[in-house]
Amino acid sequence: MIKCIEFRKEKIRFSDKGKGSVIVLLHGFLESLEVFDEFSDKLSKHFRVISIDLPGHGQTPSIGYVHTMELMAECAKAVFDSLGIRKYVVAGHSMGGYVALAFAELFPQHTAGLCLFHSTAMPDSEEKKKDRDRLAEIVKNDHTPSRNEFGTRFVFDLIPKLFAEENLSLLKEEVAKAKQIALSTPKEGIVAALKGMKERPSRELVLKNADCPVLFIIGKQDVILAWENLLLLAGLPKKSYQLVLEHAGHMGFYEAPEETFKMLKKFAGMCFRGK
Ligand code: MLT
Repeated sequence: MIKCIEFRKEKIRFSDKGKGSVIVLLHGFLESLEVFDEFSDKLSKHFRVISIDLPGHGQTPSIGYVHTMELMAECAKAVFDSLGIRKYVVAGHSMGGYVALAFAELFPQHTAGLCLFHSTAMPDSEEKKKDRDRLAEIVKNDHTPSRNEFGTRFVFDLIPKLFAEENLSLLKEEVAKAKQIALSTPKEGIVAALKGMKERPSRELVLKNADCPVLFIIGKQDVILAWENLLLLAGLPKKSYQLVLEHAGHMGFYEAPEETFKMLKKFAGMCFRGK
């Protein structure tokens, strides 16, 4: 069921499905809660699953000009508080993983488990920061009322790269859906997220000090985050679990839906049983 709450005078849209222990799914950059439609339907047969349109994405408006990972984590916390939920497994896809790490740092007592779904605790490299600035400038300076030519070209170039090449012809519908969601992300949301990601700190210490179990879902064909680096990070937490997907890039919930579903289900079951 789709619901809304108010946070910092804006309406935050989220979906709430199923019953029982809670798994939170946080989407990535240029995504919305709809990327998890099928994945959350499946999980919700076993858990209560909450996914949120993070600020500036989907139908949640922007809140100011910079969406820090902490701001997005606080927004998520406001959703859980409104539902009276106190303990949850937080799974974040890519940028959603940066938010999940900020969440685990701010609210460790509420985090029963953490899943970095194609995500990292490392900050941006200097080169990546420059890229973020360049893209933010282009998006900001576009004054066409609807999606501009650059935006369309950017999305049409970017989205297929998120999938392993071998999956592109098999997952045409999923690629089209990811493109459509990316194209409907408002410009101010794109810029605010780019700024927020650029200024996020390293959260290696959050991993190292985490009392809860941490699951890393890693795509061997991910061109955004190299699997070797993610495996090194997976050495940090005291209780670390890994799923390395041979045939996936950056979009495991589409590219390996069964494997990722089974792993997250098993992981969350273990996190809640261990409490
Ligand atoms: C994402 O998928 O959320 C982005 O690739 C994250 C990023 O740009 O660092």
